[in-house]
Formats: sequence, structure tokens, C-alpha cells
Amino acid sequence: MSTDAVTMEKIVSLCKRRGIVFQSSEIYGGIGATYDYGHYGVLLTNNVKAQWWKSLLQERDDVVALDSAIIQHPKTWEASGHVAGFSDPLVDCRTCKRRFREDKLEISECGEQPSKIPGQGKNCDLTEARQFNLMFKTTVGPVEETGSTVFLRPETAQGIFLNFKHYLQFARKKPPFGIAQVGKSFRNEITTENFIFRTREFEQMEMEFFVPPAQADQWYEYWKQTRYDWYIKLGIRPDHLRLRPHDPDELSHYSSGTSDVEYLFPTDWSELEGIANRGNFDLTQHAEHSKQNLEYVDTASGERYLPHVIEPAAGVGRATLAFLCDAYDEDEIDGETRTVLRLHPQLAPVKAAVLPLVKKDGQPEVAREIVTELRERMQVEYDEGGAIGRRYRRQDEIGTPWSITVDHQTLEDRTVTVRDRDSLAQERIAISDLADELERRLRAPWRSPKLDS
Ligand code: GAP
Repeated sequence: MSTDAVTMEKIVSLCKRRGIVFQSSEIYGGIGATYDYGHYGVLLTNNVKAQWWKSLLQERDDVVALDSAIIQHPKTWEASGHVAGFSDPLVDCRTCKRRFREDKLEISECGEQPSKIPGQGKNCDLTEARQFNLMFKTTVGPVEETGSTVFLRPETAQGIFLNFKHYLQFARKKPPFGIAQVGKSFRNEITTENFIFRTREFEQMEMEFFVPPAQADQWYEYWKQTRYDWYIKLGIRPDHLRLRPHDPDELSHYSSGTSDVEYLFPTDWSELEGIANRGNFDLTQHAEHSKQNLEYVDTASGERYLPHVIEPAAGVGRATLAFLCDAYDEDEIDGETRTVLRLHPQLAPVKAAVLPLVKKDGQPEVAREIVTELRERMQVEYDEGGAIGRRYRRQDEIGTPWSITVDHQTLEDRTVTVRDRDSLAQERIAISDLADELERRLRAPWRSPKLDS
């Protein structure tokens, strides 16, 4: 019997145990809110990003790709408003010497008795709030004193606006069209929370969709729904996903409308992705600061305008955490608790494990042959170590949808058993049909078995 047994502690522990995510610099005691992705974590996040790219580049023809630099001209961040406005209000507690975001006091644990919650304990003594800019600064040039100050980008979006003109000139793009990119961003976050949910170094998947001004509202509605559907298609349970429009006082300085795609994490509902109607704020700012004309000009009609922008902005780590939480499950097999990641097969780090039942009688050789054939088409893993039940469990924990077992019968009739991670059904399939059959299953529509439990 299956229960929704997921907690953040179980996810953290599974990630460490199976080499999905590690605390960064652990041998030196770790560094706050910074994580490293291990082997299965790289495979999993690569799949998340690949699905995002596929949905924008392969499945449509109005989005193009970009990979801009992390360090941009410092004026970028003046124009974007990040130098003046990208800050959090911070207060210090004179008693416990810790620093908190003024707007998040109620969830910050002070850790020092008796002032467990700052502002509530009788010993709490908070300073006035001061603004703290979240951008990481560094210098360009060989000597720190003479170099110029630059910032590590706090979002990938601005690189898109800086390159907008190239897409008009060289690619002859005409709105509506989008420019998408995936890459690292950096924020000196004060409140870091919930494992990889909020980190100081993280990857974003952002797209700026440039539209004629009169079409902005309709494209905003379109992208809200399209991005919500992307998570559903990849298996997130609909009762754990919602679109939440921002209240007027939550809106960023550039936005005339923003909705968040939110996921019901074990802790609470939290933002996975923001879809913002940015108007022409960014292009106006960069046109002013760079003294360049960033208008779209229709050479046939003479029409000219600064496009408006709809921006779906997602985090790779956050999406991965949501997929992990949604997939995590426990059930009981032969009286033992089994941990299983019921991931969408397209997201699963490994698609198939090939397991010889015994390490002799020619079984490892046939298993190796199968691995060589499947490897051409998908990520597979060979495992001959330990009892077969243990090997199945290892694959279940990382979400491998199919385990292929080579046994005595295989040597007689060239068939193998294919064990399904979720139903546990075992089917005999001819080796000659295996690759096609697994590919067919990989492409089939999928729904979380947790919905039926
Ligand atoms: N260009 C708009 C922008 O950056 P944002 O809401 O600040 O908007 C977009 O970020 C997404 O990036 C968030 O929904 C989240 O998924 C991810 N993100 C932002 N800050 C993050 C952090 N410190 N750690 C992990 N992911 C983060």
C-alpha cells in the first residue's frame, strides 16, 4: 500500500545517499546554501533542461536560443534596476547577533534561547532595517584596485534584452517571437531555505517573448497556461500545482501582471516559476542607457514599436526539487519498505538497468551485449553486484522505470524479463524487440501512479 510519505528530510537524505545532490564543500564543513549535483543529479537536471528546451525549440518555431555571458557590462544592472532596487530589508539582532530579512521574521529561527523567534522572545533586540543588495560583486582586470566593478548576473533575462537587436538584425525575427536561455545566476540570498529551493548559485530557464504591444495580454494568458501544462505533462499531480496571480503590492517594479506556478512542497505552497507581463520596461531602459534604438521596424509597412515582453522564468533546481517531491514514494514489498521515485520516464536519470541474474553461465556477456545496443538510444546502467532484489531496490530509489533481467531462459530463447518500477509487473520480451519497446514506452503519455494510490 502506498502513502504520500514524502518529507523534505527524506528527500535530502535520498539525494545524499544516491549521489543526486551533495552539500557543497562538505569536507570543509560546507558553505551556506550552495550545493553540488552528483552523477544522478546531473542526469536528472539535464533531463529537466532538455524537456524545457524541447518544448520551446523542437515543438515550436517561434522561439530561438541564446547563451549569454554571466558577466555583462555593469551598466546593464543600472538600466535593469538591479543596482538601485534588487535588495532585501535586513535587520540585525543585537542579542543573538544574527541577521534576518525584515519581511521573513516569522519564519526565521533564531536558534538562541529564549529568543527563538526574533521579535517575540523577550531578549530580542532588533535594529532598524537596512537595504542589502543581493548581487555578488567582483572586479574585472588584473589588479583589484584598478579593475572595474562588475556583478555576477542575478538573472539570465538581461542577457536576452542585451542581444535583442542581434535577433532583429541578423535573424530577421519579427514579433511575436521568443529568445530562450538556460544558465547560472547568482544571488547573495539572506534567507536560504529548504535544500535546493533557494540557493546562492542556481540555474534559470528563462524566455523573453517579444510581442506587439496590443497582443501582450493575450500572450500573457497563453504562456501562463502553457507553462502550467508543461509541469502537468511531466507528471506533476494537478492537485499539487496551481497558478497564483500576484497581488498588486507583490509586483516587481517592471511588471504589470505576474502569476506564479506554485507547487505544494511538503513544507507549503511555493513558487516554481514566475510568468510576468513586463511591458516594454526593459527595452526602454536599455535603449535609454545604451543610446541605441531597440525598436522593431517593419520595413514593408513602416510600422515601428518597442515590443512588450512576456517572461516565463523558472529555476532548474526548484523544478527538480518539485519533481523529486512529487515522485517520492514508499511501499512495502515482502515485508520491507521500498523507497521509489515514480518519476516520469523522460525525467528518470537512467531509463533501464540491465541485470544478469547470476555472474556466470554467460549471463554477464549477454547483459553487456544488451547494454551496448540500448546505450545507442538511451541512458542505461549495468549492475551485477548483489542479490537481484537489492539491485531492483537500488534502481527504484533513483527512479529507473525498467529493469531488464538476463536469466537461464535468456540463453535458451534470447528473451529477457522487463520489470516495471511502478506496477512491479514482469514481462518476457525478445531481446530483438527490446530497444523499440522501451522507446515506445518512453514516448507514451504518462500519469503518476500516486494519483491512483
Ligand atoms: N527574470 C525574472 C526572475 O529572475 P525570479 O522570480 O526572481 O524572476 C525566477 O526568478 C525563478 O528562478 C524562480 O521562480 C525560481 O524558480 C528561480 N530562482 C530565483 N531565485 C532562486 C534562488 N535563490 N535559488 C533557486 N532558484 C531561484
